[in-house]
Amino acid sequence: MSTPAPNAKRRLTAPAARARKGGVPLVMVTAYSATMARLVDPAVDMILVGDSLAMVEHGMPSTLGAGLDLMIAHGKAVVSASETAMVVVDLPFGAYESGPADAFRAAARVMAEAGCDAVKLEGGTHMAETIRFLSDRGVPVVAHIGLTPQAVNALGGFRSQGHDDAAREKILADARAVAEAGAFAVVVEGVVAPLGKAITEAIDIPTIGIGASAECDGQVLVLEDLLGLTPRAPRFVKRYAELGQAVSQAVGAYADEVRARTFPGEEHTYKPRG
Ligand code: KIV
Repeated sequence: MSTPAPNAKRRLTAPAARARKGGVPLVMVTAYSATMARLVDPAVDMILVGDSLAMVEHGMPSTLGAGLDLMIAHGKAVVSASETAMVVVDLPFGAYESGPADAFRAAARVMAEAGCDAVKLEGGTHMAETIRFLSDRGVPVVAHIGLTPQAVNALGGFRSQGHDDAAREKILADARAVAEAGAFAVVVEGVVAPLGKAITEAIDIPTIGIGASAECDGQVLVLEDLLGLTPRAPRFVKRYAELGQAVSQAVGAYADEVRARTFPGEEHTYKPRG
């Protein structure tokens, strides 16, 4: 066995992420490509190869069309271009809900073929047995509760959750169930702010919020949303840049110069050597 180089960079591990409960907030962002992974890796703790790539990258109407092969292909690209962030890949709709053994088969493929550090799956109490099965077999699991996009048809749309006592109790029970089952962190999406706080106080694993209040133990956003590359974004998104406008301007300028034959210029052409 070779000895790792003294300055070899190490990725954040699942136990180290779990130990951040109540400490410095965990920073997670999505990335689907090698280019974006390389850019975000130094700034974040965790990169999520989310099944939102079905909508953002492939123009599908929901996340339901992201199959296992697609998730693995994007996961591989992100792992190859990142060094220190933990890479978490979503298990896609249809790959794990039928039972723990199917979930393990899907997770094993994702972990082995993409080379990622953990998987994420949606669902609370009803997924607890599966989360236990995976964690007992060496698969670090991030759970995902509240607004679970793979259940968009059952939820009746992408709507915030936890607006009455019964709904709040159910989501709180989901949080307790996934934590007890062995998830090392849980994404809490689109819930009323007091519930985000209550969940964070009720469980001993980090909560990673997306539209769940600043009281969570970390935050996650879809990269294209925060960069201003998506045409519209949910209320919980803050636009940290307007790269959509920058892209349109740059490509417009390129198109104008090509049509005017001012690009390529002298400096972009090869001169004969002899
Ligand atoms: O698929 C995804 O990008 C996600 C985040 C929105 C949490 O699950």
